[in-house]
Amino acid sequence: MKILGIETSCDETAAAVVEDGVHILSNVVVSQIDIFAEYGGVIPEIAARSHLEAMMPVVNRALKDAYCTWDDIDAIAVTHAPGLLGSLLIGTLTARTLAILHNKPLYAVHHLKSHIYANWLERDSFPSFPLLALVVSGGHTQILSMQKHNDFKIIGTTYDDAVGECFDKIAKILGLPYPGGPSIAKAAENGNPNKYHFPHPKVDDLNFSFSGLKTAVLRAVQKELGLPISHPSHDLKNHLSAQQIADFAASFQKTAIDILKEKLLEAETQYPAKSIVLAGGVSANAELRNALPDAFFPEIRFSGDNGAMVAAACYFEIQDGKQPTNPYELNIYPRITIS
Ligand code: KG4
Ligand code: ZN
Repeated sequence: MKILGIETSCDETAAAVVEDGVHILSNVVVSQIDIFAEYGGVIPEIAARSHLEAMMPVVNRALKDAYCTWDDIDAIAVTHAPGLLGSLLIGTLTARTLAILHNKPLYAVHHLKSHIYANWLERDSFPSFPLLALVVSGGHTQILSMQKHNDFKIIGTTYDDAVGECFDKIAKILGLPYPGGPSIAKAAENGNPNKYHFPHPKVDDLNFSFSGLKTAVLRAVQKELGLPISHPSHDLKNHLSAQQIADFAASFQKTAIDILKEKLLEAETQYPAKSIVLAGGVSANAELRNALPDAFFPEIRFSGDNGAMVAAACYFEIQDGKQPTNPYELNIYPRITIS
């Protein structure tokens, strides 16, 4: 079964053709990173307009790379939530229109499920159930327990910032370019991870909190520079040496990874699992991969947002009997109802 997966939840316009949920026939991702590097973050209106420009060329390229015509495509899968509203609208409207035009079944897929299913793409061996999934993206930090395919129980979540967001915001304080995750990881290569010590938040059960860590780094930078806590965070980068930036990046990264690992170990004691899978943009982090050598990580090209993971998640949902969505009615954020 060949599924065309479409993903536009944030700042990547992506489409891919995947066979039977696991084999990549094509995978096209057009990133808006260069645009947003200038601004230091995503601007939703610009993201939506960029998706509009890139969407059809990306879909056509995905079909061409897969040597497919529309006749070869069995279904269309599209991310419908969560994400930036304008960005989601472009992807879902495109998918709905294509489904009607080419008379294909349309499936709406949840973005975080897709990130988890990136672990089934192009593997020699697959994760086994029951499993624990740690989702670490720009917008989410969650631990999920899965007894079988398509059975997701959230057992831990962040109370405030996501860990990816924390990487992005601390990169800003340190004057490192957007996106912050890869910039922090790169700067950390030259830094001492034990130079600064940041407290682990005291959060109940399997939940997380990352906003305190962000503030702890901010205060440590101000203290290191001998500046008052009222000193604006955007100016601190002008006073930091390259070595100080590297040491803060390495120390923060180590703390964030230690926190994730601690909670995952705690989760394992409560929910015995045969596999641990990592999912979401932060799963590209090399130190995180080193810290969890027995866990499944998606191939780096599938750790960020892409269409292949959407097609993979959709395939396993169809195997479980999921019915197509009416393309005239597909709604983004379907949980919101107006009465
Ligand atoms: O999953 P994703 O591409 O988009 C969302 O669904 O949010 O995740 C993006 C996040 C950003 O916060 C980015 O800084 C982070 O993933 N990220 C990383 C790395 N690569 C991307 N964080 C740490 N280390 C990396 N190598
Ligand atoms: Zn994502």
